[in-house]
Amino acid sequence: MYPIKNTVAFVTGANRGIGRAFVEELLRRDAGRIYAAARSPERLEEVVALDRSRIFPVRLDVTDRASVEAAAARAGDVGLLINNAGTLAFGSFLASAPEMAARDMETNYMGTLYVIRAFAPTLIARGEGAIVNVLSILALANMPGIGGYGASKAAAFSLTQAVRAELSGQNVRVHGVFPGPVDTDMIRALELPKTSPADIARATLDGVEAGVTDILPDAMSKQAYATWLEDPRTLEAQFGAM
Ligand SMILES: NC(=O)c1ccc[n+]([C@@H]2O[C@H](COP(=O)([O-])OP(=O)(O)OC[C@H]3O[C@@H](n4cnc5c(N)ncnc54)[C@H](OP(=O)(O)O)[C@@H]3O)[C@@H](O)[C@H]2O)c1
Repeated sequence: MYPIKNTVAFVTGANRGIGRAFVEELLRRDAGRIYAAARSPERLEEVVALDRSRIFPVRLDVTDRASVEAAAARAGDVGLLINNAGTLAFGSFLASAPEMAARDMETNYMGTLYVIRAFAPTLIARGEGAIVNVLSILALANMPGIGGYGASKAAAFSLTQAVRAELSGQNVRVHGVFPGPVDTDMIRALELPKTSPADIARATLDGVEAGVTDILPDAMSKQAYATWLEDPRTLEAQFGAM
């Protein structure tokens, strides 16, 4: 259970998509201060304008460790860390350049690790806190065509579990979020039913406030997670056929 009201939150990839929706939902829930982080702070102008007294722009590239350290030093009062920044490279494992898979791994897995490492001392020193890792339902079973992305999210899921155990005695909760398709730039090219970023942000913060460990923020993720719990091979076969 982690109350959002009056908390100090830090959101990566806050300039668009789900990250921006997190900022909006945090405002609605009366967060005290929100650090909105983006690779290009000039692209945060619209987000900061939502409430200049509570939203503070921060420059952050999660793959650049100096940038991560500088952001953590700037935001030394954070209680709720939302690791949302991510990339998705379309392409087959066999037919695409392996650099595509490496980029998703560096952003979605290593980037999340760099940020957690930089902020953990602050969360531990406060004596309470929460980390939210935005994963994907593809962390549970992979899909051809975006295999590198699925692998990076599976790695980030595994990271989430280990960090949760490491922080278990420190009153810092670690949540994994497993969205299905969401209506953002990331999968703009795909024609399929999608959940709105606002609904994902709302369901995720409901989960944080209720102390839910694995957060399933939409109907598709709930269904896929239930299938996976019952028989992981069934979900693998379903996703493998897509
Ligand atoms: N959309 C979906 O269907 C879906 C489903 C499940 C999970 N997710 C996850 O949800 C999260 C947000 O995705 P989205 O759908 O909102 O995608 P999006 O609209 O493409 O936004 C991605 C965000 O991540 C930022 N980002 C990318 N690389 C970064 C880096 N190296 N350092 C800092 N920020 C970086 C982007 O910044 P720039 O503007 O500078 O590029 C942007 O703000 C991701 O982790 C994604 O994997 C999305």
